[in-house]
Amino acid sequence: MNRPEAAAALAVLEAHRLEISKKRTLDLFAEDPRRFQNFSVRLDDLLYDFSKNRLTRTTLGHLFDLARVCHLEKRRDALFSGDKVNVTEKRAALHMALRNFSGQAIHVDGRNVMPDVLAEREKFLAFAEAIRSGRFVGATGERLTDVVNIGIGGSDLGPAMAARALSPYAAPGLNAHFVSNVDGSDLGDTLRRLDPARTLFIVSSKTFTTQETIKNADSARRWLVGALGEAAVPHHFAAVSTRLDKVAAFGILPDRVFGFWDWVGGRYSMWSAIGLSLAILIGAEHFEEFLRGGFDVDQHFRTAPLSENIPALMGLIGVWHRNIWGYPAQAVIPYDQRLARFPAYLQQLDMESNGKSVQLDGEAVTQATGPIIFGEPGTNGQHAFFQLLHQGTEVTPVDFIVAAEPTDSDAGHHVLLFANCLAQSEALMRGRSEEEARQILQAQGLPGAELDALAPHKVFSGDRPSSTFLYRKLTPRTLGRLVALYEHKVFVESVIWNINPFDQWGVELGKELCSRLAPLVSDQAADLSRLDGSTAGLIAARRTLGS
Ligand code: F6P
Repeated sequence: MNRPEAAAALAVLEAHRLEISKKRTLDLFAEDPRRFQNFSVRLDDLLYDFSKNRLTRTTLGHLFDLARVCHLEKRRDALFSGDKVNVTEKRAALHMALRNFSGQAIHVDGRNVMPDVLAEREKFLAFAEAIRSGRFVGATGERLTDVVNIGIGGSDLGPAMAARALSPYAAPGLNAHFVSNVDGSDLGDTLRRLDPARTLFIVSSKTFTTQETIKNADSARRWLVGALGEAAVPHHFAAVSTRLDKVAAFGILPDRVFGFWDWVGGRYSMWSAIGLSLAILIGAEHFEEFLRGGFDVDQHFRTAPLSENIPALMGLIGVWHRNIWGYPAQAVIPYDQRLARFPAYLQQLDMESNGKSVQLDGEAVTQATGPIIFGEPGTNGQHAFFQLLHQGTEVTPVDFIVAAEPTDSDAGHHVLLFANCLAQSEALMRGRSEEEARQILQAQGLPGAELDALAPHKVFSGDRPSSTFLYRKLTPRTLGRLVALYEHKVFVESVIWNINPFDQWGVELGKELCSRLAPLVSDQAADLSRLDGSTAGLIAARRTLGS
């Protein structure tokens, strides 16, 4: 890190780590009977418990010093003020305007964007309600019962994740489908289950140039026209984009085209009309509740002191783990099956934002940036990759996410779910010493040699950090809060690392090379001699292996 004050603050944390690593996390609980209260924060009915991480008040003090020398609060205020914080694209990053219920103006380039935001929201929510109520029907007069969102990345992951998370709020008889992959089986498998007369397609693309989305939209259009004729298209297609000029060329009626703005990044866009499929599914009222959840967190992030500021704490603890302890990954494990797609959603949010190697000024970073994010719902993950979390050579911090009450009355399932969640975080922290392992094996009556052989395999190092989010119930508002907490957490880390979390140049090269390779793949006789040996060899092999 070539910012001297930040480097000095990190050096202090490094030295502090050597001190704190002499203590076990359980010792920290023994020393402070109120550790849980002292190392957890509540935001209404959502609790963030970070007491099982190996840190103390001194650690937090050093992390707050780091935040101060990195001007976290000033940078946060610049974000909310509409400054062009996305310096490489010369854009603001104002997704918070999409969930701004303060009644106050938000300016981009000296212009208040709120009237446009509210007008567009009213328009897409009115459309959503018209589909839900059956006022808008298909070309044959039948009710539209199946909504297919065609989009990828930020134009897919948010609504797809939320549609599953909030399925108890879905209107009966309405189904949402999400087609993203250019692999034709994604669209094909979806269409096979659908009746064209009852299907509404929403083509969602910020740029309206994304190859996968345009290809899928063209194929969907062909399928519909094949069944119902060209005149049916306006009844069965809607679009969401910032590039209204490009949408027009696709032949979608202007009153079914919903816009957003270049100051909304793709992975931050589910709050905009990109959430249309979700809004149709759960209705305008619940969609607004989701937005209000995001707004709650914006208010909290802007006003809470660092010591009680959940996104700030999440981000600083992330830095503590990534840079000071050197942990390369972060697991996110929802003990809430309906959040099954939340880890995938966070992968884009976190890894596309903070997977960067240069600082804002183009200088190389001198410390590690974004971790690898992965996860699956618990308890399933326990029976798959948790072995590595407990006994692998790398330590992986875990975020556990769990509700206090189930969405369904489920006769004891939730007790087991909740107990499993706590058992995992406790096991990660507590571990099991060799001596304890030996005692257990002795109690089982294992003979000496066998006991000696088995004992090392039964040892758990413990002191593996985790945080737990506990909320009352997975409501639209709770989901809005969770998403916004992670959005701001990612921002906090980017400030410490002095990187731009709002661009994604790393996705460009592959896209360019694909445009060059596609003609060579499709033309069986194309000359491959200018390609590298592996690429040429694989194309040639496809020619012989494929039909
Ligand atoms: O390739 C990455 C990306 O640009 C994401 O950032 C974005 O969310 C996704 O593609 C889809 O882009 P669009 O909404 O423009 O189709």
